[in-house]
Amino acid sequence: MSKQVPTLSSLVEGPGFGWLDHLAAPLQRRVYAVFRKGEAGRVAKQWLNGVPFRHRVHPALVAVPIGAWTTAAVLDALDGFSADDKYRAAADAAILLGLVGAVPTVAAGLSDWVDTAGHQQRVGMAHALVNSTAIALYGTSLALRAGGKRTAGRALGWLAFGTVSLGGALGGDLVYNLGIGVSFLLYPKPPDRFVDILASDALVEGVPLVVEDGRVPVLLLRHGGQVYAVEAWCPHVGGPLGDGTFEGLTVVCPWHGSCFRLDDGRPLNGPASAPLRTFEVQERDGRISVRPSDEGKTWPPAPAPPRAQPAGTAG
Ligand code: FES
Repeated sequence: MSKQVPTLSSLVEGPGFGWLDHLAAPLQRRVYAVFRKGEAGRVAKQWLNGVPFRHRVHPALVAVPIGAWTTAAVLDALDGFSADDKYRAAADAAILLGLVGAVPTVAAGLSDWVDTAGHQQRVGMAHALVNSTAIALYGTSLALRAGGKRTAGRALGWLAFGTVSLGGALGGDLVYNLGIGVSFLLYPKPPDRFVDILASDALVEGVPLVVEDGRVPVLLLRHGGQVYAVEAWCPHVGGPLGDGTFEGLTVVCPWHGSCFRLDDGRPLNGPASAPLRTFEVQERDGRISVRPSDEGKTWPPAPAPPRAQPAGTAG
């Protein structure tokens, strides 16, 4: 019998960690309610998901607290060896900067986590709890320093640094192993040439249709007499856009409500931040053909074996 080697996040898979689900479910409901509170909540979620940037915001914001707290750990170490107090003000300021930077970072993380379920949801809860503990430890450390208890403040700062490192490792697992926030526009890929996929009269104005190109489902819509074609998988986590809601030239994903334009694939509403794949369309002699747009530019490259050595270093 074979056995799966555990990953860091699989440690919280067991029934002993079921309490994480009991915490996660009501928290997710509350966060969801906040993001659904009128137009302001919806717009806040767009920005926190990174929809206007076509890029996730949480990993970019994380650099502020992690960088500041790493700096504080180094300065505290130098302070431990120093005969005077020249490193102290900078160390305290770095901790404070990290705490301030943690506020939007937490908000962006919650906006990504709120659309998860199952193991992603549980590991996300563990990630949030560990990092919340680190934030509380840093806050206490700062208070101890302000009260003149420098040695205890430093010790707590290092404990917080270890804690936030564990939280970061869980965050890495969430992205690299569990796929939160990654684009689901991967493989299989359609052929990089025009492929005849449908008879023109099979596509009625305003009625979407999904057909296969290679093993890739292509969503077709005739709108104003023109045919638009996009990949039918939602880039968020692969929702079936053919079952979505259509309005004019837009489609809303049936799974988590991301909204996309069908002419250029642009996301108008998250949680998806990556655009849809689009296809060039040719309609000739009663047939419709499609070819991927911008092949090799906005799409991941096809898998290729590694080069033996970097180009230009032969000999
Ligand atoms: S799969 Fe989540 S919005 Fe489409």
